[in-house]
Amino acid sequence: MTILVTGGAGFIGSNFVLDWLAQSDEPVVNLDLLTYAGNLQNLASLQGDARHVFVQGDIGDRVLVDGLLATHKPRAVLHFAAESHVDRSIHGPGAFIKTNVEGTFTLLEATRAYWQALPEAERGAFRFHHVSTDEVYGSLAPDAPAFTETHPYEPNSPYSASKAASDHLVRAWHHTYGLPVVTTNCSNNYGPWHFPEKLIPLMIVNALAGKPLPVYGDGRQVRDWLYVSDHCSAIRAVLAGGRLGETYNIGGWNEKANIEIVHTVCALLDELRPSAEGPYARLITHVKDRPGHDRRYAIDARKIELELGWRPAETFGTGIRKTVQWYLDHADWVANVQSGGYREWLTTNYAARA
Ligand code: NAD
Ligand code: TYD
Repeated sequence: MTILVTGGAGFIGSNFVLDWLAQSDEPVVNLDLLTYAGNLQNLASLQGDARHVFVQGDIGDRVLVDGLLATHKPRAVLHFAAESHVDRSIHGPGAFIKTNVEGTFTLLEATRAYWQALPEAERGAFRFHHVSTDEVYGSLAPDAPAFTETHPYEPNSPYSASKAASDHLVRAWHHTYGLPVVTTNCSNNYGPWHFPEKLIPLMIVNALAGKPLPVYGDGRQVRDWLYVSDHCSAIRAVLAGGRLGETYNIGGWNEKANIEIVHTVCALLDELRPSAEGPYARLITHVKDRPGHDRRYAIDARKIELELGWRPAETFGTGIRKTVQWYLDHADWVANVQSGGYREWLTTNYAARA
């Protein structure tokens, strides 16, 4: 048996592939376009490992996807590939529609054709697992209950709108064609291999370089944070036991304001890599807010716990310490991803916020 993973060279996808092959000998075919966010260095430990077949390509390339399905005959498709950064979606929404909406459509169509031609026993066991986000639900008032799976979809950014559209396509392919799908909507992840355009790795990397730590607006926006290996274990649980056509929210029971996150990162760096110039919090700089910035996300993860017995293994305290230590131990990886394209993005996103 084999699984097909899309986007397996990105942050969560590469963590998933590494976790999967650490606990199973079932091979992984990994289809990834290697955009700025995809990085084969994340998978260097799998070099020469026959269980991992990497294919550089686009989920929107129907001929390629048809060929991969026909050749490798996966029993499941796990769909991680996406454009994933809200700020980039504000500067250039087109790529988000292309990959997240049109790419998901093509992947669904290719998967449907493959699945329909499978022998009956294999058709019943097949899964299309769609990896999505809590951002599709929109923004919560400070005292509102956390998102459940029945919360209305109210996406506010081009990123979340494109993910919401992809969720709807997946749902429709189940209801109309019977494609055996499951969807997971997870909160903000953090951990190893996280591209330093997102809050936590950006703060670690900037602090170590003595650069300003750009907090959008008042920094009181709230997110739920989950250590990435817990997201991976939740996906494995849903793939194995999730009910067809259902969605499962995944979260860390860990709501925190951004400013609190930044102070925690600074305090850990003060402990693990003290700066001669004084506490890292001196670098905190409030900058112009993100347009349409969602104020609060919170996840009610009771369904996955009740049905599948999943709960996160890490607390925020243990997860963030591991994360900061990982960045201290992987200075080469950080240096390599800070290419010309990364520096251009910093100028695009931050120059006008100062
Ligand atoms: P990422 O941006 O780090 O990685 C995305 C990967 O997809 C990259 O390797 C990229 O090369 C690849 N890719 C992009 N376009 C592609 C295309 N057209 N064809 C093939 N590959 C393509 O993203 P991530 O943070 O790892 O997120 C993975 C998935 O999880 C996404 O679907 C995202 O919406 C979802 N998600 C992310 C978070 C989070 O906190 N990062 C939380 C919940 C859900
Ligand atoms: P991010 O990591 O981009 O994830 P998302 O927008 O998908 O939740 O941002 C997390 C939070 O951190 C979000 O409220 C925006 C904020 N933020 C900053 O304050 N400064 C920054 O430089 C970045 C990248 C994000």
